[in-house]
Amino acid sequence: MLARTSYLMMVVLALVSLVCWAGCGKSSSNSSGNGGEQDAGAADTGKAAGEATPAAEGFTIGMSQCNLGEPWRVQMNADVKKAAEAHDEITMVFKDAQNDTLKQRAHVEEFVIAEVDLIIISPKEAQPLTDPVAQAMAAGIPVIVLDRRVVGDDYTCFIGADNTKIGKAAGDWIVETLGGKGKVVELKGLMTSTPGQDRHTGFREALEGSEIEIVFEADMKWLEPNARKEMESALARFEDIDVVYAHNDPGAHGAYMAAQAAGREKGILFVGIDALPHEGVSYVQEGILASTFQYPTGGADAIEVALKIFAGETVTKEITLGSRVFTAANVDAGGEAIE
Ligand code: FRU
Repeated sequence: MLARTSYLMMVVLALVSLVCWAGCGKSSSNSSGNGGEQDAGAADTGKAAGEATPAAEGFTIGMSQCNLGEPWRVQMNADVKKAAEAHDEITMVFKDAQNDTLKQRAHVEEFVIAEVDLIIISPKEAQPLTDPVAQAMAAGIPVIVLDRRVVGDDYTCFIGADNTKIGKAAGDWIVETLGGKGKVVELKGLMTSTPGQDRHTGFREALEGSEIEIVFEADMKWLEPNARKEMESALARFEDIDVVYAHNDPGAHGAYMAAQAAGREKGILFVGIDALPHEGVSYVQEGILASTFQYPTGGADAIEVALKIFAGETVTKEITLGSRVFTAANVDAGGEAIE
């Protein structure tokens, strides 16, 4: 009996010590080994959650760029990126439509489906991008239109320089430089885009009343290789060309290359628009362009406006950026503002 009792006691003691060992063992392992890591893990999770909080409370901006094949557009994206990076609450998503209107329409639709907080678009063409922008607006997503316009005014804010004014300033400069008389080639930007239309209108307005004759005009669609080809045709057809007015600096440069290949670049003045420091302004410094008119990208301005929208402030519907002219005479002094 005694033996049986002590046997039972031993079993109970053994069980108690086993439970105690297991419990203590677990607890000690928690605090000193794995447990430390788990604590750190828990702390990490806490930190990650802490970091995620501002992002969750932050803002996503979808930027639809019509193409990144031209230096000016690369600069625009860089300006947007730099301005956005100064604000932790902003996450940028960039899409490049590679000069394909249908692709750009799809990109805007994708941003709407993704429910971004705001869209910045620099549309390739006015008409086809009008509906997608309107749909984004209808979905409650504010849209900032940069540089090229859509049709109508169903957007939150448009930012860009005054292209009619720039075209007029280029025309005035050419009239003055030629003394009111001469033969000019006009290489136009994509005429389904608003800057192409406005740079043309302003330019023609400036020529009114002068004896300047447009001997050749073509739509080079903003692209240097097209401008070069069109200029080859112009050179083949016309002995006398005094000035080439191209709607952008790549166009003016393409025309210069064609004239140089024909040995005629010295007798012609080349005028462009954009005036990027490392492009148009350098061309003026090198004597390739006679003048270039600045077309600011508006990238930083777009982020400034976006922040105001996020803060619930009312923003101006139209923001018109200024421009400067650069010539051999003023380029080292940083150009001159156009009135
Ligand atoms: C780039 C560009 C610029 C021009 C602007 C007009 O795509 O062609 O050179 O100034 O677009 O929208």
